[in-house]
Amino acid sequence: MMSPLLTVRNVTKVFSGLTAVRNLSFNVEKGSIVGLIGPNGAGKTTLFNMIAGVFAPNEGEILLGNHVLSNLKSERICHAGIGRTFQIVRPFSALSVLDNVIIGALHKHSDVKNARAAARDILNLLGLSNKAENISCNLTLQERKRLEVARALATEPKLLLLDEVMAGLRPNEAEEMISVFRNLNKERGLTILLIEHVMQAVMKLSHEICVLHHGELIAHGSPEQVVRDPLVLDCYLGKDPWT
Ligand SMILES: Nc1ncnc2c1ncn2[C@@H]1O[C@H](COP(=O)(O)OP(=O)(O)OP(=O)(O)O)[C@@H](O)[C@H]1O
Ligand SMILES: [Mg+2]
Repeated sequence: MMSPLLTVRNVTKVFSGLTAVRNLSFNVEKGSIVGLIGPNGAGKTTLFNMIAGVFAPNEGEILLGNHVLSNLKSERICHAGIGRTFQIVRPFSALSVLDNVIIGALHKHSDVKNARAAARDILNLLGLSNKAENISCNLTLQERKRLEVARALATEPKLLLLDEVMAGLRPNEAEEMISVFRNLNKERGLTILLIEHVMQAVMKLSHEICVLHHGELIAHGSPEQVVRDPLVLDCYLGKDPWT
């Protein structure tokens, strides 16, 4: 029996009258990949912001293992083992690719030499080694997305939150990203919660999918179950999200 790594329990977030997330509950099992989908404005990024401690929920609880995260500051949550990428990538653009990742690695390594070695490993994993000395603002979109993942991985998270890291990539680039995440999951046991509009990627990667609509969980199950759910097709207003 697997135990949940992440527990989201009755979580609600209200922004000046707008309920962005409403009474949301689900678990992410240790070692799994869970996809989080839903139309624009469904509350997906808001949920990530609560998990990562950007702001606290108005109601409900978020736990990593047995550790209550809701109300902790983002720095503490990162330290507890949650790494995240941002929908709008935000590297330190004046720094080199390597230095950006070293900053992440310094969360786990007090020694700069060790942090640099760890950062080089991660760049290698993401196929960015040949860009290590480049200044980050000169990267292509794909490279910036990879750097965003590298920065999150450098903090050595137990749970990695990915917010649309495949958006805007060409199909072959997305394929490469998919295999990176699959390897991280299989070989290092990394647990992943990913927001993604690229449905092929969600279907290929996820063991389970959660569907949010207007802040509520309207479906939760295997990719095969969710793909056939009429409520899910409905919330995309007749546009078939799976094609
Ligand atoms: N910091 C904020 N202040 C006020 N309203 C916000 C804030 N963040 C999000 N919202 C609102 O909350 C709702 C959910 O937004 P959210 O960004 O979570 O959606 P999303 O599912 O990530 O959408 P997308 O797929 O477009 O990224 C939207 O109506 C949005 O305008
Ligand atoms: Mg979003």
